[in-house]
Amino acid sequence: MLVLFRKTPILGAILAQVVALPVVAAVTAPLSTAVERLPLIVAALVLQGLIAASITRILGLARWWLLIAFLFPLAMGTALLIGNLPAWPFGIAFLLLALVFSNTTRGRIPLYLTNTETTSVLKDLMRDRGASRMLDLGCGLGGVVRALDGEGRRAGGVENAPAVYLAAKLLSTLSGRGDIRRGDLWKTDVSQEDVVYAFLSPAPMAALWQKLSTEMKPGSLFVSNSFAVPDVDPDEIWELQDGRKTKLFLYPIGNADGEIAG
Ligand SMILES: C[S@@+](CC[C@H](N)C(=O)[O-])C[C@H]1O[C@@H](n2cnc3c(N)ncnc32)[C@H](O)[C@@H]1O
Repeated sequence: MLVLFRKTPILGAILAQVVALPVVAAVTAPLSTAVERLPLIVAALVLQGLIAASITRILGLARWWLLIAFLFPLAMGTALLIGNLPAWPFGIAFLLLALVFSNTTRGRIPLYLTNTETTSVLKDLMRDRGASRMLDLGCGLGGVVRALDGEGRRAGGVENAPAVYLAAKLLSTLSGRGDIRRGDLWKTDVSQEDVVYAFLSPAPMAALWQKLSTEMKPGSLFVSNSFAVPDVDPDEIWELQDGRKTKLFLYPIGNADGEIAG
């Protein structure tokens, strides 16, 4: 059962809110005559969020669901309290969220971005290796791609969230840097790349290594931001001195004899 929620976390998040609801009702209903309406509603919404967030942890959902589970009742409650809101802002907000995050529920890889310190380290790494091609799998807004493209290097990125892809494509076209493609990282050709970079989540790492270790050319390098490949020793781990103490895991592909690492 837990496996189902880890595979389809939105189900776990809905279940968490449903389970929390009667608990909150049982706790707050006896107070309804003794406490002012507004503070009681706020307390109930906070309690609902806290219980639902705890349940997402028990179900083993990723940490960002904790925040979503906590904020969801507060957002709904605020909208209801303000009342008489037109429906269209909700429709547009839903559409935007779907265009940015629709792939997250399926692939469990949300959008967050590589910071400038890490990007600069990646640029030095490309220079030091004399690498001429790199690909960012799940390139988000394409910041890494634009920064690493140029000086004789060709950087590309692949992204499947529609709105995120469009933004990355637009920024790349305006800056004249990088080659952003809409597509699924699992179906992307990585055989010509000197360096493949990914900043994804723990969920896809084992399968991703399967793909990269068989499809990348010997002598190339896979760099994973923050998420190690399970049961495979990286050649190096770089611990950066940025605010979030980023770790880069370096996995060389193959060796002089073309033998695959791991
Ligand atoms: C954590 S973000 C990293 C963004 C960018 N690489 C960076 O470091 O700034 C991961 C990105 O991967 C994208 N993504 C998730 N699954 C994908 C898939 N199957 N194919 C392509 N992109 C995917 C998400 O939409 C998200 O934009």
